[in-house]
Amino acid sequence: MQIKNALVTGVSKGLGKELCLILNSLGYKVHGISRTDQALLDKALVASLSTYHQIDLGDKTGVEQFINQNSTIFDLLIINAAERTFKNFSDFQGNEIESLINNSFTHQLILLNHVLKTMIQKNRGHIIIISSKSGIKGYSTGSLYCAIKAAWISIHESISRELKHTGIKLVTVIPDSFADTSGNKSSFFNKNVQNIQKIIVNLETDQKSRIVFSLTLKTRFKLFLEYCRKAVFV
Ligand SMILES: NC(=O)c1ccc[n+]([C@@H]2O[C@H](COP(=O)([O-])OP(=O)(O)OC[C@H]3O[C@@H](n4cnc5c(N)ncnc54)[C@H](OP(=O)(O)O)[C@@H]3O)[C@@H](O)[C@H]2O)c1
Repeated sequence: MQIKNALVTGVSKGLGKELCLILNSLGYKVHGISRTDQALLDKALVASLSTYHQIDLGDKTGVEQFINQNSTIFDLLIINAAERTFKNFSDFQGNEIESLINNSFTHQLILLNHVLKTMIQKNRGHIIIISSKSGIKGYSTGSLYCAIKAAWISIHESISRELKHTGIKLVTVIPDSFADTSGNKSSFFNKNVQNIQKIIVNLETDQKSRIVFSLTLKTRFKLFLEYCRKAVFV
């Protein structure tokens, strides 16, 4: 069996780190990107990685250098890195808005564009985008984060249509909250990881691109009530 190469953004901690361990256990060669110095990474994570790239995704030059210097053809790309900054929109100062959008969206779009082109040449490959429940419902202090996560869902809706008759499949995951900004995991963390593990295991048998909700029962119920209310009281 041919060994597959997976590129994951935001691997130093949280969900990205778990995904690297899973991919490694499934036989992928895992290539990770984040800003943390490799010497400071968890040992199990380092052992799971074939290559680690210390890149600030907010720095366009760093992303372009990676694209130009890296000759690995990736079978799977996971767009996971995000800056989770929460404050009132009027409290953003100077270039904070631009910087947040560059970190979590624009420069990963450039990476996606590059990897997608190489996948199109082979007519095969998988892309997983980690969006968020925040992308379907805005809340106070979440303006930019919610907008970025909503943008990833829009990107999915367009690109998945463009890829309809190709061998490339796109899965966008909409997870519920699973950890706070300090990295403290909620009880939903493990379930969310299991849900994404299932997606990875089933990639080869997926017939089409799809959006997958990874939500708690409570959120599912709240959304159900909200959509019923919207459907009845337009
Ligand atoms: N946490 C939640 O409750 C939740 C809920 C729904 C969706 N999500 C989404 O799930 C994904 C993972 O969330 P998480 O909670 O695991 O995040 P996290 O613990 O904050 O980890 C974020 C990862 O992204 C990397 N990163 C951030 N900015 C970067 C940059 N400019 N350049 C390179 N790497 C960067 C960080 O590494 P360095 O700091 O080393 O750069 C880290 O490895 C995100 O897309 C998030 O939006 C999270």
